[in-house]
Amino acid sequence: MTATTDETWTAGNPGALGPTGRPRPVFPEPPVPENHGPARVVAMVNQKGGVGKTTTTINLGAALAEVGQRVLLVDFDPQGALSVGLGIDPRPLETTIYDLLMEEPDVTAEDVLLGTSVEGMDLLPSNIFLSGAEIRLVNEVAREYALQRSLEPLLPYYDICLIDCQPSLGLLTVNALTCAHSVMIPLECEFFALRGVALLMESISKVQERLNKNLEIDGLLATMYDPRTLHAREVLATIMQGFGDKVFHTVINRTVRFPDATLAGEPITQFDPGSMGATAYRELAREVLARWPARL
Ligand SMILES: Nc1ncnc2c1ncn2[C@@H]1O[C@H](COP(=O)(O)OP(=O)(O)O)[C@@H](O)[C@H]1O
Ligand SMILES: [Mg+2]
Repeated sequence: MTATTDETWTAGNPGALGPTGRPRPVFPEPPVPENHGPARVVAMVNQKGGVGKTTTTINLGAALAEVGQRVLLVDFDPQGALSVGLGIDPRPLETTIYDLLMEEPDVTAEDVLLGTSVEGMDLLPSNIFLSGAEIRLVNEVAREYALQRSLEPLLPYYDICLIDCQPSLGLLTVNALTCAHSVMIPLECEFFALRGVALLMESISKVQERLNKNLEIDGLLATMYDPRTLHAREVLATIMQGFGDKVFHTVINRTVRFPDATLAGEPITQFDPGSMGATAYRELAREVLARWPARL
């Protein structure tokens, strides 16, 4: 077979080189789980904004739910973009993840949990009040473990919990890293994609040393890739040079269907189920399920 660069997401061309320059494996159709939980907790982290954290949380979550996984999404950004992207206006909400963090045990997870338009996928929403948590948590005992305490009672009911972090390496993100089994790092295929990644890796190492020795790096996800531009291809090649096997085979192309879906308040898998973007996130779901251990 001649190795050509396959820029489309149509499966069924095993052995062709994917956009990362490696032969693309065929990820198996995941089995539908017979029983559920406890959840693997995954933090979506990059202190840069606009790299695709929220988009990946929504769409990977929806793609995982489509194959029968029970998914809990945690909006851990005071901007509330994850909630908005799922069609929920978080501004008037009286109970959010903030109350769960600060008022436990008076506020329980059931008081905060919302369903979504995707069957099997629930949300812990947030709004601007969460920005107060960082300040209030500073004086708490075991302040890095607040999110872990809040999520613990929910984890038996889900298979995967994705935490959408804010663009910072502050205390909220440290909380997410402390309770996570692993981290995913979306990187935009643009100039300066790798700027700040060394600092992020340092923060992850510190959390591994001091707070969560089992924390793993699942991988770096190239997003907003435009195969037609030399620039994007060069950036992706640089990411590959730096991180090699840590980079997911699945690459998310740049398409206006993502902002369109966000505006519609739906995952792309529902908004435009046959689109390239929906197919890419389904492929990512298969890739992560192939990577993660079946049960913790
Ligand atoms: N693959 C993509 N192609 C085009 N636009 C995208 C893509 N992924 C995300 N976007 C858009 O880019 C903006 C930032 O993405 P977002 O997921 O909110 O990043 P973050 O959460 O890291 O700040 C949003 O408007 C989103 O709709
Ligand atoms: Mg975001």
